Amino acid sequence: MTGQRAEKPVLRVLGGEAVWPPPVWLMRQAGRYLPEYRKLREKAGNFIALCTTPPLATEVTLQPVRRFGMDAAILFSDILILPWALGQKLRFAEGEGPRLERIDGLAGLEALDPAALRQGTEPVMETVSRVRAELPPETTLIGFAGSPFTVACYMIDGRGGDFPLTREVAYADPALLAAVIETVTTATIDYLSWQIEAGADCVMLFDSWAGLLPPDLFRAHVIHPTARIVEQLRVRHPGVKVIGFPRLGGLMTLPYIADTGVDAVGMDTSVDPVALARLAPRRVAFQGNLDPLLLRAGGISLGQAVERMARGLAGHPHIFNLGHGIVPDTPPEHVAAVIERLRSLEPGELEESALAAT
Ligand code: CP3
Repeated sequence: MTGQRAEKPVLRVLGGEAVWPPPVWLMRQAGRYLPEYRKLREKAGNFIALCTTPPLATEVTLQPVRRFGMDAAILFSDILILPWALGQKLRFAEGEGPRLERIDGLAGLEALDPAALRQGTEPVMETVSRVRAELPPETTLIGFAGSPFTVACYMIDGRGGDFPLTREVAYADPALLAAVIETVTTATIDYLSWQIEAGADCVMLFDSWAGLLPPDLFRAHVIHPTARIVEQLRVRHPGVKVIGFPRLGGLMTLPYIADTGVDAVGMDTSVDPVALARLAPRRVAFQGNLDPLLLRAGGISLGQAVERMARGLAGHPHIFNLGHGIVPDTPPEHVAAVIERLRSLEPGELEESALAAT
């Protein structure tokens, strides 16, 4: 198993190796900016159907890999499929984003059914196996879940925004937030474990809203559950690689790296990668962090930023990516240009690394 896996550039980086040029995939690489996605999305009717119909989800996962030759495919699904599979009502309102039936007390949480998770997520596992069978051997398949805090934000507030209800519950009813996070943490360990068994090479935890929390709550609701997930996944799947993405975590990114055990940290757009590389232990790989809006804008400054970012981190294990997801009106040609620029970087540029100077 590991012999073949170890050849994949993304897995080599996750194992702590600096690879040149850095392997690349992009958050939300499947999605509305691709005409072939929009076509299948229409065919599926609604977004949940697209996520839970394995032939369609497989096709959507593979589209950006075929078009751009990405080094990794990320399973096409959504972080909210997990609470949906536990029984929480979910819909994606057209043009408005997700809506969940809010959990406003322990009774609401207890109405969910952890035993339903396996059956509810069976289509996701089938998608993972199908994608695995179709991917080129050098392409890494990334499974994923939301981190417990970010999933809890949607479960408690019922919708995106700045999550006023969840942030109030953190202080006014800490037992409720703790219980929601406990339920999601336990479910996430199983959910990611099944994805690995179905054929995911590694997994990523999206903590898009981690940066909302002050340091003590960040430790309790971000670092602690993430550490538990990482630890349990390693018990079940020794050596499995985990990427964490504590978006807008600021300085808390350092204890996150030190205390969660993740193999790689996703950097949001605000992070200075070279500054972080000087502060973080070298064993942790980096992933990121081009501004998605620069990707949309394109032009000379896009190419320059790609080169500067890759060179700045040369010598450090780095997977090239965005600081957040691709925005829907991004021209696909800009994505192609990024990949081409990265792959045409001259060898030997490790010496020009900003890190080498330190
Ligand atoms: O290509 C990939 O990156 C894989 C698929 C993926 C989706 N969502 C597909 C999606 C992944 C990894 C996610 C993660 C996700 N979902 C996060 C964490 C990352 C982040 O963006 O911060 C969050 C917070 C969600 C919840 C969610 N799903 C929101 C807020 C929305 C609405 C915003 C939007 O872009 O419409 C979604 C919908 C969603 N998830 C779409 C896609 C392709 C758009 C749905 C459509 O086609 O109508």
